[in-house]
Amino acid sequence: MKKTKKLLSVILALAMLFTLAQQSFAATEEDWVKVWESNNADAGIIMFVGSNESERNFSWYSSSEGENSVIISNNEDLSSPEVFKGTQFDSVEGSVVNKVTVTGLKENTTYYYKCVSPNFESKVYSFKTDGGAEFSAMYVTDVHITAIDDANENSLSDTSYRFHETVKDALKNNKNISLLLSAGDQATEGLESEYRAFTASDEMKSLSIATAMGNHDRKGAAYKDFKNVPNEDTEALIRSYNGTDYWFTKGEALFLVMDSNSGNAMAHADFVERAIKANPDVKWKIMMFHHDLYSGRIEHRESENNLLRTIWGPIADEFGIDLVLLGHSHYYTVTDVLYKNERVEELKSEMVDPKGTIYMVSCSLGRPRDDEDLGLNEQWVGFDYLTDVATYFTLDFKEGSVTVNSYELGKKSPIQTFTITKTTNDGGHEDPGFFTSVKDGVVRFLGAVYTIFNNFNSYDDLKEHGYDVELSDFFG
Ligand SMILES: [Fe+2]
Ligand SMILES: [Fe+2]
Repeated sequence: MKKTKKLLSVILALAMLFTLAQQSFAATEEDWVKVWESNNADAGIIMFVGSNESERNFSWYSSSEGENSVIISNNEDLSSPEVFKGTQFDSVEGSVVNKVTVTGLKENTTYYYKCVSPNFESKVYSFKTDGGAEFSAMYVTDVHITAIDDANENSLSDTSYRFHETVKDALKNNKNISLLLSAGDQATEGLESEYRAFTASDEMKSLSIATAMGNHDRKGAAYKDFKNVPNEDTEALIRSYNGTDYWFTKGEALFLVMDSNSGNAMAHADFVERAIKANPDVKWKIMMFHHDLYSGRIEHRESENNLLRTIWGPIADEFGIDLVLLGHSHYYTVTDVLYKNERVEELKSEMVDPKGTIYMVSCSLGRPRDDEDLGLNEQWVGFDYLTDVATYFTLDFKEGSVTVNSYELGKKSPIQTFTITKTTNDGGHEDPGFFTSVKDGVVRFLGAVYTIFNNFNSYDDLKEHGYDVELSDFFG
């Protein structure tokens, strides 16, 4: 009898726990429905990085033209505000896009802000600036917000919810995260609705965002209107319709966000050279672009990967890039330390002045792949991990060091951890001197020629999909 009672009470307790778990999940989803249906989510408010920590670039959509502004203050009630006015233009999909740049931000300061445009006033959001060398970033890739899915009529809201949950999880694990790096394929079809959904989470409004352009972002023309990024290359004569390379700085780091849809290696190398000249005293050079180079699990992509390695490897070597953050393959991989396309050091948990570059792919947030294990490219890959769970990396910068951790959604202990320390700005990178070989020069030239032809194809594709684009958007 006693045993039966005990068993009954255990079953009862388990049933209660199960009900509570169900309730808390339902509550989360209800919260999400409220967020999802609010004007603030629909307006697609996003705070892109500025040129440096003293700036932020805002972007959002409205239905009619008129005065717009970002109102910003040190006080929660927005008293004693500064008001920054911006610009507007019509998006390719017929709405109005608002762009505002906020300048003069002080280090280590909390700011409150709202975005205002005709018939719209956002909620008040807040963010904190960093100071000195210390800050934390999260890095994700292939978020794949998806508007069209025959199997799920709520795919836009559902894919946005998964992204929101991942950002929330990362912020719970690491409260210092102030920057979100997204290595491309933010959207699946490149539609405005997908970019609005990308921004829907309120938690995102506390982070500055840097996005690279993926091949899926290039399927439509909305990404060009959506982004508001600093120092975008205006000198490249041949570029993608939706944009090109840009840079920003934070702490001791220079971030180079590149458009790998363009094979114009000559322009990419020239851009990196100019960005480094403008920021000669940085310790870290972090590059981010979409196309994976080294993991190689997708056999039929190996010839494309080989070509991409020929373009991007010599640029990373020449300019002493420390980390390259990638996407596209949807397979989690981190390479050993590579130089001239060869392993020069093994990936270790502690590395001092590594003599080359580490390339990494943060799986895919929206569509993680664990279905193939071809084991290719073992000569380069130092760590790989197969999972069907959304993953993200965090990068914790301190004076002279960066610690990289990676996580699966919902788990507290990291999949992988490593720290790089640099004792000087150059660290273990060789002084490139007059580096560019004849072969690299030829590759860079051919890359530019190839991009001319590729741009004509891209122009035809967008025209076929009904977008009103001009050839001059690709050249000039
Ligand atoms: Fe992708
Ligand atoms: Fe991709």
